[in-house]
Amino acid sequence: MSKPAAVIAIDLPAGLLEDLRRSVTPIVTGPDPAAVDAALPRAEGILCSALFPMDGARLALAPNLRVIANFGVGYNNVDLEAATARGIAVCTTPGVLSGAVADLTMALILAIARRLFENAAYARGGGWARREPPPALGWDPAGKTLGIVGFGRIGQAVALRARAFGMEVIYHDLVTAPVEGLEDCRPVPLAELLELADVVSLHVNLDPSTHHLIGAAELARMKPTAWLINTARGPVVDQAALREALASRQIAGAALDVLDPEPPAADEPLLAMENVIVLPHIGSATVETRAAMRDLAVRNLVAVLTGRTPPACVNP
Ligand code: DGY
Repeated sequence: MSKPAAVIAIDLPAGLLEDLRRSVTPIVTGPDPAAVDAALPRAEGILCSALFPMDGARLALAPNLRVIANFGVGYNNVDLEAATARGIAVCTTPGVLSGAVADLTMALILAIARRLFENAAYARGGGWARREPPPALGWDPAGKTLGIVGFGRIGQAVALRARAFGMEVIYHDLVTAPVEGLEDCRPVPLAELLELADVVSLHVNLDPSTHHLIGAAELARMKPTAWLINTARGPVVDQAALREALASRQIAGAALDVLDPEPPAADEPLLAMENVIVLPHIGSATVETRAAMRDLAVRNLVAVLTGRTPPACVNP
C-alpha cells in the first residue's frame, strides 16, 4: 500500500526523517514556500513552522490535506475555521516549550532589572576602561509585582520562576480558578494588572480577541517605571502605540521577542530605541526544546496520516 504523501516544510535531522519515512512519503523537505506550494496539491499532510502561513489561499492549493502539524504551540498561522470546516486536523506542540519560553521571559526580567545590556555595552565600548561613569543602578526583582497576561502553561511557568525570585505575581486570564501550587498568584482585571505591575508579561495566544490587546489606552495605564515583555506574538501589541509610549517614556521600556511583522523592516524604529530590547523570536530556541518540538510535531503528523489520534490537536 502506498504511504500518504506529506510536505515537511521544516528541516528535520536525518534520523527523524528516516523514522518518518516508515509511515509517510515526504514529497518536499525544507521551508521554501515555492517548493511547498508546488507540492501541496499532492499532500495529505504538512509539517510546518507555527509562523508559516496556512491561510485560505494555501489551503486551497491542498485539496487532499488531512493534517497541519505545526512546529510550535501557536496556530495563528492557520485559518482554523477553514481547516476545521474541511475536517483538517490542526496540531501543535504544547507543553514541551513552556519551560524554554518561561526561562527566556525570566532572563529578560533579570536582564532589565540588572541593566545587563547597558552594562555589557558600557564595558565592551571601553567606558569601564576609560573610567567613565557606569550605567545607573539596577533594581531587585524581590518585592516587585509581575503582571502576567494569559495564565496558561507558559504564564504559569513564568510565575513559578518569578516567585522563586521573590516577585509578587498577579495575572489576568479568562480562567480565574486557583492553580495548584500557584494559589498565591492573584487574578485581577486587566486594567488593575496594568496599573499595579512593575513588569507586564504577555502570554496569550494570538486570535481576534487578543489582537492589539495592548494598545494606547492600556499602555497609558502602566506605571512610567514599568516594562512590557512580549514573548507571545507581535500583533498582541499595537506596535505603533508602543513606539509612541516608548519614545515619550510613558513606560520605561520593552523587551520584545516577537514583532509585527516578522522579520521587521530594517528601519523599524524599535530596533534602535535605547529602552527596547529586541530578540529574533527565540522563545523556544534551545537544542533540547527544539528536538522535543520536532518529535511531537512528527508524532502528530504520523498519527493523523495513519488513522490514529494525534497527541495534540486543537480542533478535535
Ligand atoms: C510557538 O511555538 O508558537 C513559537 O512562538 C514559535 O513560533
